[in-house]
Amino acid sequence: MSNKLYIETVGCQMNVLDSEMVVASLRQRGYQLTDDLREADAILFNTCSVRQHAEDKIYSALGRLRRLKKQHPEKVIGVLGCMAQKDQRLIFERAPYVDLVVGPGQLQSVPALIDEVRRRPGPRLQVGLGRRDGSVDEIKRSHETFDPLRDPEMRPTPFQAYLRIQIGCDKFCTYCIVPMVRGPEQGRPPEQIIAEARVLADQGCKEIVLLGQTVNSYCHRSGGRTTRLADLLYQLHEIDGIVRLKFVTNYPKDMTNDLLTAVRDLPKCSHYLHVPAQSGSNRVLKAMKRGYTVEDYREMMQRIRDILPDAAVSSDFIVGFSGETEDEFRETMTLVSECRFKNSFIFKYSERPGTKAEELLADDVPDEVKRRRNHELLEIQNLICEEENQTWIGRTVSVLVEGPSKASAGRATEEGGLQLCGRTSEDRIVVFDGDEEHVGQLMPVTIYDVTAHTLLGVAATRQLASLPLI
Ligand code: SAH
Ligand code: SF4
Ligand code: F3S
Repeated sequence: MSNKLYIETVGCQMNVLDSEMVVASLRQRGYQLTDDLREADAILFNTCSVRQHAEDKIYSALGRLRRLKKQHPEKVIGVLGCMAQKDQRLIFERAPYVDLVVGPGQLQSVPALIDEVRRRPGPRLQVGLGRRDGSVDEIKRSHETFDPLRDPEMRPTPFQAYLRIQIGCDKFCTYCIVPMVRGPEQGRPPEQIIAEARVLADQGCKEIVLLGQTVNSYCHRSGGRTTRLADLLYQLHEIDGIVRLKFVTNYPKDMTNDLLTAVRDLPKCSHYLHVPAQSGSNRVLKAMKRGYTVEDYREMMQRIRDILPDAAVSSDFIVGFSGETEDEFRETMTLVSECRFKNSFIFKYSERPGTKAEELLADDVPDEVKRRRNHELLEIQNLICEEENQTWIGRTVSVLVEGPSKASAGRATEEGGLQLCGRTSEDRIVVFDGDEEHVGQLMPVTIYDVTAHTLLGVAATRQLASLPLI
């Protein structure tokens, strides 16, 4: 039987990792990836519900499959992930030719479900319990983390890997669908995390990015012992072969001095912190139920600056949340100017059915106002990026080389080398000329020019080699 798999992924890093796991488990059963829908036997979409736009994209992709499925009813079409959990049967109503709808907590059953459908066609639905549909334990059990061991060639690069340490979220920000679709917050047992990191290191992985929706709230209790993120970092730091540790995404209120000190004291930890502020207005933060004030956020920034003076901090913002006035938006502009984030992801508020904001607050900021605010905030953030990047000219940074730069498309440079792309410890993107063998290495690169989002450099070793010998 032919076993070709087509998969499309939208959403956050958690989804990228989930897709990797699903692909890995199917490859173990003989499936091969294809990017051609016509030759695929299974077509999977790993979906996101965080904004309406992400859902629209998937429903229109599904719409385009109607004809194909009519001509080839034997192809299995599956909708996985957050939108599967949120929309459930609605997906079969909107696209009756879909075979599988599987929530993010049921991904371990995807291979068996595909087999089942191929043997006995018909729709299959597997999702977790809703947040009010049982006891906390029952709900937790129905959202299971899926972390089978992966072969190195199944990861985007063999020397980088995401490692999940936490699933779900209990913060319930009023605008956000994540707690509803990903279920209760659960920390994975530290032994499992360390064991997975060891396997990754043995496979040649150098950089591990720990994942959690509020990764710095990580907590695991067993046998009277409590493990937090800082404890995990100390343990992971011991593993030979790992040279860099990052963790995303942080929740401002849980950014403790313990954690910041661990990052300072452990040389493998990246001095990079993604800590979304969401808004610079106390009224808006309260309506979002973020649990902190702008003053708290500023105080946290000060602690970061005190303990990790060279850290790069990045943020997320939502513009045009319910009732956001021009003055409140200006307060967000002020916060961005003050904090000088390395970068910010800026989103127009998108009302999500099933959230508190949808139930209680009007989505009353017109779209053109949201668009203008998005643009204005991005403009000032870009200016900051450019100014901050300027300060790197002339400095030598340590770059973990990820591969050929996008612009080079793998083509050789005039000197026969390769334009490479990598990141500094503070997550800044660096482009420079090097050789194939540099991929996966930690290399010193001297910066000679910058754009808003990229540092341009030369390999420090090359620079030395080209100096006249005296
Ligand atoms: N767990 C992370 C990120 C969650 S989703 C955190 O708490 O920071 C990623 C980003 O999407 C959020 O930080 C927020 O800025 C944005 N977002 C979430 N819900 C949204 C909505 N309904 N409309 C627009 N943006 C949203
Ligand atoms: Fe959503 Fe808030 Fe949880 Fe982040 S912390 S996932 S924004 S509810
Ligand atoms: Fe989207 Fe689900 Fe991530 S809603 S942002 S894919 S947790």
